[in-house]
Amino acid sequence: MKQSQIQPLKIGNVTLPNNLILAPMAGVTDLPFRLLCKEQGAGLLCMEMVSAKAILYKNKNTKALLSIDKRENPVSLQLFGSDPDIIADIAHQIEDLPFDILDINMGCPVPKIVNNGEGSALMKNPKLVGEIIEKTVKAINKPVTVKFRRGFDEEHINAVEIAKVAEASGASAVAVHGRTREQYYAGKADWDIIRQVKEAVSIPVIGNGDLLTAEDVIAMKEQTGCDGFMIARGAQGNPWIFKQILHYFETGEHLAKPDIKEVAKMILKHAEMMVDFKGEYTGMREMRKHAAWYTAGYHNSSKLRVKFNGVESYDDLKRLLDAEILSPADTQYFPEK
Ligand SMILES: Cc1cc2nc3c(=O)[nH]c(=O)nc-3n(C[C@H](O)[C@H](O)[C@H](O)COP(=O)(O)O)c2cc1C
Repeated sequence: MKQSQIQPLKIGNVTLPNNLILAPMAGVTDLPFRLLCKEQGAGLLCMEMVSAKAILYKNKNTKALLSIDKRENPVSLQLFGSDPDIIADIAHQIEDLPFDILDINMGCPVPKIVNNGEGSALMKNPKLVGEIIEKTVKAINKPVTVKFRRGFDEEHINAVEIAKVAEASGASAVAVHGRTREQYYAGKADWDIIRQVKEAVSIPVIGNGDLLTAEDVIAMKEQTGCDGFMIARGAQGNPWIFKQILHYFETGEHLAKPDIKEVAKMILKHAEMMVDFKGEYTGMREMRKHAAWYTAGYHNSSKLRVKFNGVESYDDLKRLLDAEILSPADTQYFPEK
């Protein structure tokens, strides 16, 4: 039984209790969800990406995006943008917020972002990448990290070059998602590029793409030698993933998938936090997709999904879960595997 994959990880002057990382996900890794992942043992929580320009222009939506709870640390705040001076200035302006690590997004594939020269478009301009990182590192005292992809497209696979530029410019770690921008989230992530990056730089390398189980973590470690493991879609509707993986490395045994009653209780807890944080209208609308994710993989869950879409209030959700899951002695919603 190898136990070496899960370890504390040092990023600059910040020590993560373990190297299992909740990836940044816009529309998902808000404060309530991050807290749930923290309770399950995630070693670092990454916030949703925030536009440096939106902060500059004091866009009202950025306030919630920048909220951090003191139970979260260590937490990583991710900025996106393309202007080195604006990113560095904003990093300096917000440095007193209680985040531990500042991450710069160089992987987002969304056309609106890419067409502005931001997110993964930056990979096409390694010189600009260097300038952004260098200026940001100079502007703040917290560690600066960078998250990018395998490359922009098949003709431009340059993750190794970007990682070297990041290291030379003062980044404290890099996270590599083994897909190109062109691939979005489709197909299988290429872990070999993570190995190539790990061999090319001395700063910590965090591997990302298709991590769903402890076995995946073991395989990624073996194939790449990377230092940290970043989980995105595997955590959607499954904050338990961190506990499941940690448990496996501690005991050599798999934790069973939570039964549907435990899932329903988690949905209600999550919903309560969403209502507290975002108000009932927004919180409950956003909760619909989480509820669908939580119940995916349970027999008959498609019936539930339709019902979740009609939920308007916390009470609606509670009534629905009581009637379908919490009150019945027998369940029709059992784990499929
Ligand atoms: C809904 C969603 C939102 C995402 N938002 C961000 C983001 O804000 N910043 C970022 O760097 N990556 C973002 N990503 C990419 C993930 O962090 C991760 O790199 C990608 O999903 C691959 O990991 P996975 O195979 O574990 O899902 C997002 C992914 C998803 C599915």
